[in-house]
Amino acid sequence: MTAAASVAVLRGDGIGPEVLESALSILGSCLQVRLREAKIGGLAIDAGGDPLPEETLQICQSSNAILLGAIGGPRWVKPVPAAEGLLRLRKRLGLYANLRPVRHLNLPTPLREGLARHADVLVVRDLAGGVYTGTPRSEQAHEAVNTWRQTDEQVRRVAHVAFKQAAKRRSRVTSVDKANLLEASRLWRRVVEEVATEYPSVQLEHRHVDAMSFELIQAPHRFDVILSDNLFGDILGDQAALIAGAVGVLPSASLGDGPAIYKPVHGPAPDLAGRGVANPTGAILAVAMLLEHSLNRPDLARIVESAVNVTLRDVRTPDVGGKATTREFTEAVHRNLSWLRWAHTPAEDETETTASSEWGV
Ligand code: IPM
Ligand code: MN
Repeated sequence: MTAAASVAVLRGDGIGPEVLESALSILGSCLQVRLREAKIGGLAIDAGGDPLPEETLQICQSSNAILLGAIGGPRWVKPVPAAEGLLRLRKRLGLYANLRPVRHLNLPTPLREGLARHADVLVVRDLAGGVYTGTPRSEQAHEAVNTWRQTDEQVRRVAHVAFKQAAKRRSRVTSVDKANLLEASRLWRRVVEEVATEYPSVQLEHRHVDAMSFELIQAPHRFDVILSDNLFGDILGDQAALIAGAVGVLPSASLGDGPAIYKPVHGPAPDLAGRGVANPTGAILAVAMLLEHSLNRPDLARIVESAVNVTLRDVRTPDVGGKATTREFTEAVHRNLSWLRWAHTPAEDETETTASSEWGV
């Protein structure tokens, strides 16, 4: 058997540690992995003033993947916001594509039920360029400046990710921009069109971001892969979360050419922290994404997803209308996972996937 993959574990702030505990137990029951703990965000600021210590960066760079809980909280806004740790980590790892899959999970949603039920979208967002990273940037009493800088190479890389994903899904990419107004968007549209020629089986359409905001709510089932820049993608990603009805149940991945970051979409929710009722679904589904994209085990990813779907039918934490604790929900996922794996695993494969975990640091 090859050496166990190593996963950097950044539990982070607020409910981050609780949901990661649950997610790690699921990962450990799927595969043998070597876990390497490191500090980020508020926890790291308290320990040494820096939201991304050099040691954390080194552990992340030398791992196969990174699993992050949540980052930030009201205690760490100034002088350095804790979230800065995540932005810097993405940058230092050269991550350029943020993936946010959202499906209807049979949970209550404010959208039209009949349409949301058929919705299954993947938001692919550029993380490298755009107004979040562009310079010059400054903040003074009477004027503040941010710069939307976008290179063709940034667009090309993230567009390839979107088209490849679409080819594995329903073969449709909706690229979102503001090309009627912004030069950066016009470059965006031109490069996306160039990339599209390499994927003749995938259909490309364009939307302006304002019209897209409307249509995503009006007819969410129409969309497959939604490709956008750093700012619009950030906003549309949260908006698409309405399909599932809750942010606590959604995962995300940030991919580059090396180790990738997997995390639940939700934040640290400090008011829920320590009460044992946080919803670990987003973190568990982040583990499924990690299994698929970094450990090359899409088979296990599908089984984890199925176990979560089945569990949500009758065991739910309070944020999605239930009474279960984090632990009760996690135990139910484990039970469903065992059943599903028993049903899916051919006998000769048993040694590869038998539950075993090495909890070393
Ligand atoms: C996200 C988050 C981050 C972002 C923050 C925490 C920096 O909102 O992953 O969408 O905006 O990129
Ligand atoms: Mn966001």
